[in-house]
Amino acid sequence: MKILITGGAGFIGSHLTDELIARGHAVRILDSLIEQVHRGRIPDYLNPAAEFVRGDIRDRALVQQSLAGVDAVAHLAAAVGVAQSQYQIAHYADVNMHGTAVLADVLANERHTVRKTIVPGSMTAYGEGPAECERCGRIRPRIRTAEDVTRLGWEPRCPHCAGQVRSVPANEQDLLLSESVYSISKRVQEQVLSHVGRLCGIASIVVRLFNVYGPRQSLSNPYTGVTAIFISRLKCDNAPTVFEDGGQTRDFIWVGDVVRTLSDLFETDRADGETLNIASGVPTSVSDVANRLARIMRVNREPQITRQFRFGDVRHCTADIRRASASIGFSVKTPLDEGFDRLIHWSESADSRDTFDQTVSELRNFNMLSRAS
Ligand code: UD1
Repeated sequence: MKILITGGAGFIGSHLTDELIARGHAVRILDSLIEQVHRGRIPDYLNPAAEFVRGDIRDRALVQQSLAGVDAVAHLAAAVGVAQSQYQIAHYADVNMHGTAVLADVLANERHTVRKTIVPGSMTAYGEGPAECERCGRIRPRIRTAEDVTRLGWEPRCPHCAGQVRSVPANEQDLLLSESVYSISKRVQEQVLSHVGRLCGIASIVVRLFNVYGPRQSLSNPYTGVTAIFISRLKCDNAPTVFEDGGQTRDFIWVGDVVRTLSDLFETDRADGETLNIASGVPTSVSDVANRLARIMRVNREPQITRQFRFGDVRHCTADIRRASASIGFSVKTPLDEGFDRLIHWSESADSRDTFDQTVSELRNFNMLSRAS
């Protein structure tokens, strides 16, 4: 099979490239090598067996050329980062929504050989994960505001009775309630490709990825995920800086488990037309992440609990993974400790820069970080 991976030089895309090539597929990458991640250079890790096209997903003629002879597309090209999307609104909308629209437009209007698309949705699209209220049953808490946190504490409350609630896993049928520009743009990507797929008879699959970690995640990009940020802090002998009280949870998944699953999805039609959560199904607190990483790295640094609230952050979101396991036999093969071991081993030889102060000052400039409470 010949597969086009947009954003194939990135963290997940480059691992997917390796996996598909190892399985005997041909891969073409379309990637613009954005400055913030790649500083305009082809990364050393890029698989030489992949065909590389440098360019932008918004360039219609180039997208059309890149689809020549292609059987399937993984559309991973995106501007990534929740916080940054809240002030670089036009940029996120342009790359993520317009870029996807260009791809869909070519698929709908031009001659091509594409039979399947896979697009990663995002766990951020759910917003605050669902919860169980003793009085009201299964409910969807609203995204917390800084005022909610000051008044009611860190945990979200029941939107009906304001009582305390217990977080439960999000399933694919749950409403997408998030309000960040990034997650809205991911929602549009999902919907546009699914819709155009149905119109044109192209099988489309949405995979809602939760917090993916692993080698090649930039250790110098201040807008990357929390594991990379903590490792770059610890490598400089600084304490990981934990927002809120550290009790917020996320569902972390090893990048190898993600790309194995994406590759399986190209090789079977069992999940065509579906939306699947791809995650571990296990909640892990951010404090726990900081402690585990420090222990594995043998850095004697207690996490610094800042009690600051980052605007737009959800408190809890864990995946219900039963649908993925029923439809394609999905399961996680790499537990968190093993994944962290491997990530840290890789990080020892990776370039890293502690950019946390830069992130904080940028968040402050845009009024997106509340004072410590
Ligand atoms: C992340 C990704 C998002 C992706 C989603 C699902 C980023 C910035 N966000 O969202 O693109 O769609 O996973 O894969 O890449 N935290 C700290 N200290 C820090 C940094 C973060 O305590 O220095 C906390 C945050 O407040 C949050 C948690 O860690 O509670 C996770 O943050 P982050 O890694 O940015 O991920 P998400 O916002 O969950």
